[in-house]
Amino acid sequence: MAVLVTGGAGYIGSHMVWELLDHGEEVVVLDRLSTGFDWAVPEAAELVVGDIGDQTLVEETIRRRGVDAIIHFAGSIIVPESVADPLGYYFNNTVKSRALIESAVCCGVKHFIFSSTAAVYGTPRTNPVTEEELLQPESPYGTSKLMTEIMLRDTAAAHDFAYTALRYFNVSGADPKLRTGQSTKGATHLIKVACETATGKRPSMDVFGTDYPTPDGTCVRDYIHVSDLVNAHYLALRRLRSGAGSLVANCGYGRGYSVLEVIDAVKRVSGKDFNVVESGRRPGDAVAIVASAERCVSELGWRPAHDDLQEIVSHALRWEEALARRNRL
Ligand code: UFG
Repeated sequence: MAVLVTGGAGYIGSHMVWELLDHGEEVVVLDRLSTGFDWAVPEAAELVVGDIGDQTLVEETIRRRGVDAIIHFAGSIIVPESVADPLGYYFNNTVKSRALIESAVCCGVKHFIFSSTAAVYGTPRTNPVTEEELLQPESPYGTSKLMTEIMLRDTAAAHDFAYTALRYFNVSGADPKLRTGQSTKGATHLIKVACETATGKRPSMDVFGTDYPTPDGTCVRDYIHVSDLVNAHYLALRRLRSGAGSLVANCGYGRGYSVLEVIDAVKRVSGKDFNVVESGRRPGDAVAIVASAERCVSELGWRPAHDDLQEIVSHALRWEEALARRNRL
């Protein structure tokens, strides 16, 4: 019996693979290595290089390894890119997810965990945002993920199949043991960008917008440590295997930090006073979005272990330093 992790060579996927191996699970990764790295996949997991839309390959892999559950991370994740190339996003995120779900049903895989996003809410009417909030994505990226949630809902109603869709808030940090981390090239995420600036990879960084209606004028987000996030997936897997029904749950801590607070934390932890440029607003940014984490706690028994901005930043920084050493080799 094995768990199939799509996108397992990527940032969150590779942390998931370690989490599963740490719990004694057999793991097979399916990744086409378009943004992920083969070296990010631990040797104890099998890496199949290929596309989630290749149903022959997916079904052969499921049958060969006796896959009982799929954890689906593979997909495109850059919001502005999705605005410029909506059909590319609907193909990669929605059409190929449909193929993967069909392969799961055809092969009798009954458990499916899906990497969804807070972007399905668009700009929420109130914070913290619960799963009952209106779903009004403001980008093709968010819509492409919401469409997959809908396909999962309808598939679960029609077949012997149950899913968990986890809506991620701002995922950051790295494995505390530094076995993996965020290695994405040309990253746009705040904590990654600030750590790259602190370690000298960038000469300076921008703050996008200082005139928002927030206490310090910059946007507020709920930053969740990647290790706590993948642990929520592991708990979701155990819950599905115990026979529980489908579930949609937010993954965040329920606490927001502003862009300036995050940058201050990176400066404090790194001891580097790097250059920060106040720039105009970035199109498409919501003012503030913070999760209600109640459902994740009550339904999954989730007990976050790294709910501390300083710790998140410290792990992200240590990974950035490790990456800089690796790239110099
Ligand atoms: N920011 C900066 N400077 C930077 C990078 C980011 O000021 O160099 C700001 C952004 O403008 C935003 C905040 O930092 O206000 C967070 O931005 P990120 O790019 O780190 O993350 P987002 O909140 O835009 O996006 C995240 C996920 C998306 C997901 C979205 C849902 O990365 O995949 O949350 O809300 F769709």
